[in-house]
Amino acid sequence: MWRTLQRAAGGFSRRSRPQIEMTPPDNIERILFTEEQVSARIREVGAEISAKYAGRDLKLISVLKGSVFFLTELARAIDIPLKVDFLAISSFGGAPPGMVRIAKDLDDPIQDEDVLLIEDIVDTGFTTRFLLQTLAGRAPRSIGICTLLDRTVRRIVQVPVDFRCFEIPDRFVVGCGLDYKQLYRNLGYIAVLDPEKS
Ligand code: IMP
Ligand code: MG
Repeated sequence: MWRTLQRAAGGFSRRSRPQIEMTPPDNIERILFTEEQVSARIREVGAEISAKYAGRDLKLISVLKGSVFFLTELARAIDIPLKVDFLAISSFGGAPPGMVRIAKDLDDPIQDEDVLLIEDIVDTGFTTRFLLQTLAGRAPRSIGICTLLDRTVRRIVQVPVDFRCFEIPDRFVVGCGLDYKQLYRNLGYIAVLDPEKS
C-alpha cells in the first residue's frame, strides 16, 4: 500500500526528496541560523522535553500564527504522548505593548494537564506573561514555556523560560514562522531583516 502511494506521489521517499534551495530575498541582511542548525537544535530541545516529561502526557499550546512552524517540527522531535491545541491573540491598535486579547481560544480545557506554551519569540515578555497568566488561571497541572528564540536584552517583564532553542541579538529577525508584515514565515532559516531595504 505504502509503495503504491509512493509511486503515485512520483516515487519520492522522505530520504530522496530533493532539497528546495531558496535564494534569500534582497532585504535579508544575514542568516543567523541555517535550516540545518535550526533542525538540529529543535531535535535537542525535543529530547530535553521528552526526558523532563517522561511518563506523563503533554499538551503543547501554540500561538497562531508564528509558533505553528516551530510547533510542528518540535512535536515530531518529542517521543512521549502529546496533544496540541491552538490559540490566537491580537493587540489593541495603538495600545501599550502587552495589551493583547484572545482572538481564538483553545478548543479544550487544560485543567489537570501538563501544558507547554510554545512561542516563536520571547521579546519584551509582555505577550508571554499575558498568556502564562491566562492559562495558569485554568488550573493546569503544570505550565512551562518553550520558545524558539529568546531576546533577553529587550526583556521588560520577567517570564520563566523553561526551554529555548536560541538566544538572539537585538535585531529584527524573520523566518521559521516569524514574519515582517506577514511575509517570510516560510523561510527555513532565521535571518536578520534589513529595515532599509524592506
Ligand atoms: P513580546 O515583546 O515578547 O510581547 O513579543 C511580541 C511579539 O512580537 C512576538 O510574539 C512576535 O510575534 C513579535 N516579534 C518580536 N520580535 C520579533 C522579530 O524580531 N521578528 C518578528 N516578530 C517579532
Ligand atoms: Mg508577528
